Amino acid sequence: MSAAAPTLDPACFNFLSEFVRTKSAIVLEPNKAYLLESRLMPVARQNGLTSLPELVAQLQRPGSQALGRQVVDAMTTNETSFYRDIHPFDALKQHILPELLRNRHKERSLHIWSNACSSGQEVYSIAMLLREHFPELASWKVRLIASDLSSAILEKAKAGVFNQTEVNRGLPMQLLLKYFTRNGLQWQVNAEIRNSVEFMECNLIQNWPTQLPKMDIIFLRNVLIYFDPATKTTVLNKASSLLRPDGYLFLGGAESTMNLAVALDREVIGKATCYRPHK
Ligand SMILES: C[S@@+](CC[C@H](N)C(=O)[O-])C[C@H]1O[C@@H](n2cnc3c(N)ncnc32)[C@H](O)[C@@H]1O
Repeated sequence: MSAAAPTLDPACFNFLSEFVRTKSAIVLEPNKAYLLESRLMPVARQNGLTSLPELVAQLQRPGSQALGRQVVDAMTTNETSFYRDIHPFDALKQHILPELLRNRHKERSLHIWSNACSSGQEVYSIAMLLREHFPELASWKVRLIASDLSSAILEKAKAGVFNQTEVNRGLPMQLLLKYFTRNGLQWQVNAEIRNSVEFMECNLIQNWPTQLPKMDIIFLRNVLIYFDPATKTTVLNKASSLLRPDGYLFLGGAESTMNLAVALDREVIGKATCYRPHK
């Protein structure tokens, strides 16, 4: 007979899930105890600890901020891919960017934010789309900003180095050959594309970087699903107030503003759903 799987004691689960929720807004229901164990035991071991109760004790000691960041980083889900859920990118190309280029032809500036950008596939997808289809933007002041809570994942995003599996997910071959350089088993996004992106840390539930300009387009995809409704509402209203009146916001395919008191209207463009500030 096999031994029963070890279970995380409730006090330990409660401390860790509350710690992660306070630092990131990520909600971990009790049925996610296995996730907590499988992701945090490696963090414990890397820090010379042998169990989660020891990790909890360490987190409660003064000066444990770096360990706290590792714990939160480990509990983030970084799943992403190039041109994920293609429809928002089609809407950008066919409708939104042509319209914004007309609306901004005098000021000749455009601000796009890929929020919760994970390892960068989303922002690099946008950067390549701009290069491919809107060459006139080369003479505009374009700020393409990408942010995430996790400094570890931001480092990967900045490096722009992807393995074969990652480039096989959603990236058309002609774009791979045009914008990436092969280095052994890895592919790196060319410097021109990398340098077109400003990477910065931003925790959605803390103060947002003061250098953020008013945005024309915000991608806020596949992160609100981890938050409770009150936090979703707060973050969406903050994002909405950062949008220009004729700007656009995208959420992930499984996300919506339904039942949330937010100042945004839903609009369907082709097969994409986007959200715009109340008129
Ligand atoms: C599933 S990925 C989404 C990546 C990309 N936006 C996409 O849709 O493909 C979720 C990202 O949200 C980030 N995240 C989680 N909580 C966050 C918070 N409070 N503030 C900012 N980013 C957060 C995680 O670090 C992770 O990289």
